[in-house]
Amino acid sequence: MADFFEVVHTQRAARSFLPDDVDDASISRILTAATHAPSAENSQPFVFIVVRDAAIRRAIGDLTARIWEGGAKALESDRLSPSFLRDVDRGAMGGIAGAPVLIVVCGDTRLTYPQSMDASVFPAVQNLLLAAHALGLGSTLTTMPVLGGDELSEPLGLPADVVPIAVIPLGHLAQPLGPPRRKPLSEKAHLNRYGTPYPPTPSGEVSVP
Ligand SMILES: Cc1cc2nc3c(=O)[nH]c(=O)nc-3n(C[C@H](O)[C@H](O)[C@H](O)COP(=O)(O)O)c2cc1C
Repeated sequence: MADFFEVVHTQRAARSFLPDDVDDASISRILTAATHAPSAENSQPFVFIVVRDAAIRRAIGDLTARIWEGGAKALESDRLSPSFLRDVDRGAMGGIAGAPVLIVVCGDTRLTYPQSMDASVFPAVQNLLLAAHALGLGSTLTTMPVLGGDELSEPLGLPADVVPIAVIPLGHLAQPLGPPRRKPLSEKAHLNRYGTPYPPTPSGEVSVP
C-alpha cells in the first residue's frame, strides 16, 4: 500500500497527459475513495460525471480555452510566474482536455444548503486527487470550466438541481512533475494565538520530500 504521507507530499497538478486509457476499475476505486470524504450532515451531495466521450471532452476543452483566452489569462498573467503561467496555459489550451477521462464533479443542490455545498464537495475532490496519485495517475483540480455555466451543464445533460463545481482530468502523466512548491509549516501555523510560532522550534518541522 502507498504510504499516506508520501502520497500527500508528492501529489501535484498535472496538465498534460498521455492518450493511454484509464480503466474503469481504477476510476471506480478513485471515485469510491472520493465518496468516503466528510460532508455536512453526511449529505454526500457530490455527483461525478465520468466523461470518456471525445466530443464532450472536446466541448469542455473548447469552453475552457475560450474562458482562458477571453479574460482569465490576462487576469493571471500578472499573478503567476512565467513558468506557472505557461503550464496553466498549456492545460487550458488543450492539455487538460487531452486527458482520456474528465471527471466533472457536481453538487446536488437538493441535498445540502448552498452555504455547505462547496465545503461538502471539495473534501471529496481532495480524496479523488490523492487516490489518483496513489494509483500512479495524474489529475488536477480545475474550476475554470465551471465559469461556463450552462455551456458546461448542457453537454453533460445535468438537471437544474445538479451544478458543476470542478473538472478533473485523469490520466497517465506525459512527464514527471517534480516536487511541489510549498511554504514551510512555520509560516502557516501559530501556537494558541496568531503570531506565536508553531512549531515552537524549527526542528519540530517535518521535512517534505
Ligand atoms: C480552487 C482551485 C481552483 C483551481 N483551478 C485551476 C484551473 O482552473 N486550472 C488549472 O490549471 N489549475 C487549477 N488549480 C490548480 C492549482 O493551480 C494548483 O493546485 C496549485 O497551483 C498547486 O500546484 P501543484 O499541485 O503543482 O503544487 C486550482 C486549484 C484550486 C484549489
